[in-house]
Amino acid sequence: MKVLVTGGAGYIGSTTAKALEEAGHTPVILDSLLTGPQVFVRDRIFYEGDIADRDLVARVVREHPDLDATIHMAARIVVPESVEQPYLYYKDNVAKSLELFDQLEKLGKPRVLFSSSASLYATKQDFEAFEGDALAPNSPYARTKRMMEEVLQDMAAATELRGIILRYFNPIGSDPDLESGIYAKEPSHVLGQLVMAARGQKDSFTITGTEHPTRDGTGIRDYIHVWDLARAHVRAVEKFDEVIGSVGDSSVVINIGTGSGVTVRELVAAFERVFGQTVPLSEAPPRPGDAVGAFANVDRSRELLDWRTELSLDDAIASALAWGEKRQEILGYE
Ligand SMILES: NC(=O)c1ccc[n+]([C@@H]2O[C@H](COP(=O)([O-])OP(=O)(O)OC[C@H]3O[C@@H](n4cnc5c(N)ncnc54)[C@H](O)[C@@H]3O)[C@@H](O)[C@H]2O)c1
Repeated sequence: MKVLVTGGAGYIGSTTAKALEEAGHTPVILDSLLTGPQVFVRDRIFYEGDIADRDLVARVVREHPDLDATIHMAARIVVPESVEQPYLYYKDNVAKSLELFDQLEKLGKPRVLFSSSASLYATKQDFEAFEGDALAPNSPYARTKRMMEEVLQDMAAATELRGIILRYFNPIGSDPDLESGIYAKEPSHVLGQLVMAARGQKDSFTITGTEHPTRDGTGIRDYIHVWDLARAHVRAVEKFDEVIGSVGDSSVVINIGTGSGVTVRELVAAFERVFGQTVPLSEAPPRPGDAVGAFANVDRSRELLDWRTELSLDDAIASALAWGEKRQEILGYE
């Protein structure tokens, strides 16, 4: 199969492109390099440009009439930035995706997979999120994701377009050959902070929020190895028509996670186990907007995609650590 991957120069997109190749498919990358590094594109078929550039999308389809599906990952993804600059987020994630979806439909390329997020879910007492649960997107970023879910659902109901919406939980780790991974100069995510504290680049790792209603008071997440996440896309592309056919609707939402919740304290313990060193800890109150968290109910992904995660939390941590050692060589910065 041939698959258009928007945002294919990014963290998840470049890993997904590799998973597609390993399964015998051909990714075609469309990325503006707004944030994704060119080096992650490697030697793949690549169009540098914007998802809203209708002429460019038409050219891609003209030059690759055999495209079977589109995985739409291109987006701005930084939550605090979305609070400060909502216009940019609504323009790039909402308005531009709308153009892309309409153009794909007009060009007769109706199969669309959309990258959505577990950050849409409202907090539940037992933290297990089912696709039909109540939503409460609490940032402009999360709201752009929710809006585009609804847009895709509405367009699919009215046109030939068909949509599989994947709600990712918390991807960590890198691709198995260490050719791509997290590329932010100063990673703000929890694992990056842990590595910095373990290496003495900061005094301690701060647990923000220790009185949440979880088993140990700290926030809970469903950390999924990015390679497992990438493989889920391969499955969804391969089974696209079967999935849509079996749900009896023009679109469907599917959680992509491990099915297990891990608290911050449990993550720290796993990190120390894999890294072989303790990490100095400090505690602070939750930051404004910090979510208690959720983990995925994975019944639907098992049933519809016949997919489940294969890699463990320790695998993902080891992979993130190995990428930390390697990334300077690839990215040119530490
Ligand atoms: N990383 C996560 O934790 C996470 C969790 C849930 C959902 N997601 C979603 O997964 C997708 C991929 O995330 P990621 O972590 O790989 O992000 P990323 O920033 O690494 O990748 C996004 C890519 O999109 C490109 N891009 C942005 N705007 C574009 C435009 N208008 N036209 C063309 N290219 C454009 C960027 O250059 C970048 O390469 C996003 O849609 C994100 O919302 C990510």
